[in-house]
Amino acid sequence: MAILFNQDKKVFTLQTKNSAYQMKVIDYDVLLHLYYGRRLEDCDLSYLIQNTDRGFCGNPYEVQHDRTFSLDYFPQEYPCFGIGDYRGDCVRIINPDGSNAVDYRYRSYRIEKGKYSLEGMPAFYGEDGETLIITMEDKDTGMLLELQYGVFEEADVITRAARIINGTKGTVYVDRALSLCLDFMRADLDWIHFYGKHAMEREFERAPLTHSKQAIGSLRGTSSHQQNPFVMLCERNAGEDWGECWGVNLVYSGGFYAEAEVDQFNQARLVMGISPDNFCWQLGPGEAFQTPEAVMVYSDQGFADLSHKMHRAVFDHLIRGKWKEERRPILINNWEATYFNFTGDKLLRIAEDAKDLGIEMLVLDDGWFGNRDSDFRGLGDWQVNEKKLGSTMKELVDKVNGMGLKFGLWVEPEMISEDSQLYKEHPDWAIRIPGRPGNIGRSQLVLDFSREDVVDAVQEMIFQVLDSANIEYIKWDFNRSITNLYSGALPPERQGEVAHRYVLGLYRFLENMVQRYPDLLLEGCSGGGGRFDLGMLYYSPQIWCSDDTDAVERLKIQYGTSFGYPISSVGSHVSASPNHQTFRTTPFETRATVAMAGSFGYELDLNLLTERERSKVRRQVEEYKTYYDVIQRGDYYRLTSPYEGSRACAWSFVSRDQKECLFCAVVVKLQANPDAMIVRLKGLCPNAKYRLEGTEQVYTGSALMYGGVLLPVPGKEYESWRYYFRQIEEA
Ligand code: DGJ
Repeated sequence: MAILFNQDKKVFTLQTKNSAYQMKVIDYDVLLHLYYGRRLEDCDLSYLIQNTDRGFCGNPYEVQHDRTFSLDYFPQEYPCFGIGDYRGDCVRIINPDGSNAVDYRYRSYRIEKGKYSLEGMPAFYGEDGETLIITMEDKDTGMLLELQYGVFEEADVITRAARIINGTKGTVYVDRALSLCLDFMRADLDWIHFYGKHAMEREFERAPLTHSKQAIGSLRGTSSHQQNPFVMLCERNAGEDWGECWGVNLVYSGGFYAEAEVDQFNQARLVMGISPDNFCWQLGPGEAFQTPEAVMVYSDQGFADLSHKMHRAVFDHLIRGKWKEERRPILINNWEATYFNFTGDKLLRIAEDAKDLGIEMLVLDDGWFGNRDSDFRGLGDWQVNEKKLGSTMKELVDKVNGMGLKFGLWVEPEMISEDSQLYKEHPDWAIRIPGRPGNIGRSQLVLDFSREDVVDAVQEMIFQVLDSANIEYIKWDFNRSITNLYSGALPPERQGEVAHRYVLGLYRFLENMVQRYPDLLLEGCSGGGGRFDLGMLYYSPQIWCSDDTDAVERLKIQYGTSFGYPISSVGSHVSASPNHQTFRTTPFETRATVAMAGSFGYELDLNLLTERERSKVRRQVEEYKTYYDVIQRGDYYRLTSPYEGSRACAWSFVSRDQKECLFCAVVVKLQANPDAMIVRLKGLCPNAKYRLEGTEQVYTGSALMYGGVLLPVPGKEYESWRYYFRQIEEA
C-alpha cells in the first residue's frame, strides 16, 4: 500500500520506495501539507508546526480568539486566494456574487487501485500505481474540489492534479487553477530552471530562493523555448551526487507558470500549473474544470539520481505505443540538406545514399505541399505538390520503400499562411482579434484549434495524406508563438478559455492520430525544442531538441535537457560543417558523438560526403545500433558540466545491470602543454572488471570510478572520444 491514511490522526502519507509525502486534516477541516522528502515510517509530522500568536496574520472566523491558528503561516496543500494566505495561491474563484475568494476544507477521501487518468489530457499511466482522491468543499458557497494524487511506489514518483467543480447554483469563473503546491518548513533551498531562446533551449540556471517571488512561465501558447516547465529545488550544497533535491514538471504543452518564494517565517513555497494570465474559465452549475497533471520526484542523492528517476518514470509511465520499446529507425532528414529546394529525384538520390550507408528512414521535411516553396506561403494546404515531387506521394514513398527505407513526413497542422487556399476559404479560422491586424510570426498565422470544426477539417486533410502512402513517421512542427488570442467561436466572457481549449484541441488531434495509426512514429518539434514537454511526449516519444545542430552548442542544450527528460526523447542529428547556425567547423566524429546522445539521425546532403566520411557514417550507424539499448534504456550520467570550465564535456550511459558503459567526451578547450584530462566514471560495479572495447585493456569499476579515465592529448579542436566498456567478470 503506497497510500496510507491514519484515521485517528487524519494523516495521509503517500509512500514510494525512497520518498514520502504527508498531509494532515487539522481543526476546522483545514488540509495541511506537512512533508515531501526521504521516506518516513509511521509518524505525524504536525508537531513541527509551532502554534503561536503570529501578529499581523489573520485567523479563520471559526477560531475566534485563537490567534495561533493562521493560514498565513500554515504549510498548505492547495492554498486558496482571498482567505488569508498571501503567498502564491493555487486557486481563485469569482463567485456568482462577484466576490473573489474560495475556502476549500476537507470533506472526504477515497483510494483506488491503478493510477487515475485525465479525459482528453496527457497523464502518467500504470496499473501498478495507486490513486488518492481528496474531496474538499467550500461550505459557504458549495464549490467543490477534488485533489487527485497518483503514487508509483517502485518508480518513486507522485503525480498531482485538481478538479474544480461548481457546486453552486450560479455561474462561477475559475480565475486561477494550478496543479501543484509544495510547502517546505525551511528556506535554505536553491531553485534551478532551464531558460533559453530559439536555437539555444534549456540553459541551466541556479539561484538561491529569497524573500521574493521568483517566477518563470510561458504565455506563448506553447511550453516555449524561453522557459521549460521542468524545475528543481535543492539544498544549497546539493550537486550531481549528493544532497536533497525535488524535481517537478507539468504534463502540459501550453502556457504554464511556476513560482517559488520564501515567506515571512522562512518557509519556502513552490506552485506550478497552467498559466493564470489570460486564463478564466466559466463553469455553470455542476460543471467541472480539470487542471493538467504535475509530476514530482524527490531524491536525497543529488541530481543524477533525480534525473534517473524522472527518466525512468517518463519512459515507463508516460511514453506510449510501439516505439517506446522498439528500436527507432536511424533517419536522414532533408531539411538542412535542401531546405525548400528539392525535387523528387533529389530526394531519391539522398535515399539511395542513405540506404547504402545503413540509414533506415528518409524524412521529407517542409515544402512538399501546396505552393510551399518558401516559408512565406502554403501552410494549411495539405495537398501534395506533385509537380515538385514529380510523382504522387504514394509513388515517391513506394520508391523509397522499394530501396528498403522507411518514409517519414513533416507537417505543421496548427498553422495557416495568408497566402494559401485555406486562408482564402476560411480567413476566420486564423487566431486574430477582430479589428486588429494582429502579429505574424515566420510570416504565418495560427489556426484556432480551440474550435472543433477547425481541428476536424485539418485532421481530415492530414489523414488523407497519411492514408495515401506508407508514411511511417510524422514530424509535427509548430513555428511561432501565439499572440492576439481570440476565438470567434466563444462569447466575450469566455475568451479566457481559448488558450487552454487550444491545447485540448491539439491533444484531441494527436490522440486521434496515435489511435488511428498505432504504428506511426511521431517526433514533436516547435522550431526545434520550443515545445519540449511531457504533454507532447505522451504522444510523440521523441522531440526535435533544437534547431541548433552545432555539436558544441548542443552540448549545453542536451546537458540542460537531460535533467528532466530521458535521452530517448531527444531528437539529435549529425549535420554539415561548417554548421548552418553557428558557422563553426567541428570534426565529423564529434558531430556523431553528440548526436548519439539521443534519438539519432543525419541532416545533411549525403550526396556531398567524401568516401572517408561515408565510411565513417557506416561505422557510426552500426555503432549506434549496437549501443542502442545502453543509450536509450541505460542510466545517463553528466560527468562534467559544460558550464564549469572543464576542458572536456563528458557523459556516460550505464546499463541497468551495470555490465555496459558507453563513455563520451568532447574537448571544448585546447591548451598548450596540456594538463592531464581525467574524467571519473559513475554507476559501475566497483569490484567488476571492464574491458575497453577494441583493446586488451581491463580496468576495475573502482579504478574507472575513483581513479578515472585519462583522455588522450587532443590532436585537434573539438576532438571527441567514445569508449565502450563491457564487464568481463562478475563482482
Ligand atoms: C523548424 C524545424 O525545427 C526544422 O527542423 C524544420 O523542420 C523547419 N521548421 C521547417 O520549416
